[in-house]
Amino acid sequence: MGRLAVNGVSKIYGESDASSSVVALRDVTFEVPDNHFCSILGHSGCGKTTLLNIAAGFERATTGAVMVDGVSIDLPGWRNTMIFQDYALFPWMNVFQNIVFGLEMKEVARKEREDITRHYIGLVGLEAFETKFPHQLSGGMRQRVAIARALAVQPQLLLMDEPFAALDAQNRSFMQDELVRIWQREPKTVLLVTHSIDEAIKLSDCIAVMTSRPGSVKEFVRVDLPRPRDEDDAPYIALKRKLRELIRDDFVSR
Ligand SMILES: Nc1ncnc2c1ncn2[C@@H]1O[C@H](COP(=O)(O)OP(=O)(O)O)[C@@H](O)[C@H]1O
Ligand SMILES: [Mg+2]
Repeated sequence: MGRLAVNGVSKIYGESDASSSVVALRDVTFEVPDNHFCSILGHSGCGKTTLLNIAAGFERATTGAVMVDGVSIDLPGWRNTMIFQDYALFPWMNVFQNIVFGLEMKEVARKEREDITRHYIGLVGLEAFETKFPHQLSGGMRQRVAIARALAVQPQLLLMDEPFAALDAQNRSFMQDELVRIWQREPKTVLLVTHSIDEAIKLSDCIAVMTSRPGSVKEFVRVDLPRPRDEDDAPYIALKRKLRELIRDDFVSR
């Protein structure tokens, strides 16, 4: 299960009464049903990474909490797995070893963890690359390893911080399609950070549109378009216009 609730989350860096303190998030509240895909959309510096780090247990909220199935996330762990922009693979481990690692940490029995690892290698389409090392792989393939590694431990919440930012436009679009395919095969509650309107529309069931700093939710938008989504469809274009206006208004008024 993985019903996500972001409950009144604020984050102040530094002493709250010091002039140097930064209010990164202010009263962020929204809910994501189990196995839904939610994007956080906003300009650079609006607190997206901060929110994800709190959801991963890397940082503590100053007030409020991120909860999964009613339980507050206070510590990092395999239940809330983060996929980083730079993939964060172990360079001295091959594809198989990178993916099986989390299962070893979880103390899954040998045969089972090997079966699970092969399943996820197959799911992300890397059967022929099991024994390759990260430096022998393209950016898109590294990102596949990172996705397989994250899914293999069966997290309740999958967190991604601009996961495709390091890829060129064509690969990014391809990996977005791949992520949708993988997520449809194995649904999961996902929280993905992006500053790309198209990425948010293409992937998400819901989009939390953030205001500029201090970040709060300007509008929580549901996306009911059938997948795969076609950027030439009228409803897609209308939604894109709406999101662009929400974000542009914010730029003008800050
Ligand atoms: N560890 C930190 N200490 C102080 N300020 C921080 C820290 N991390 C982030 N910030 C500030 O909080 C704000 C939000 O940052 P961040 O969450 O990285 O935004 P985004 O990911 O949307 O670009 C920024 O103004 C940033 O400078
Ligand atoms: Mg960021």
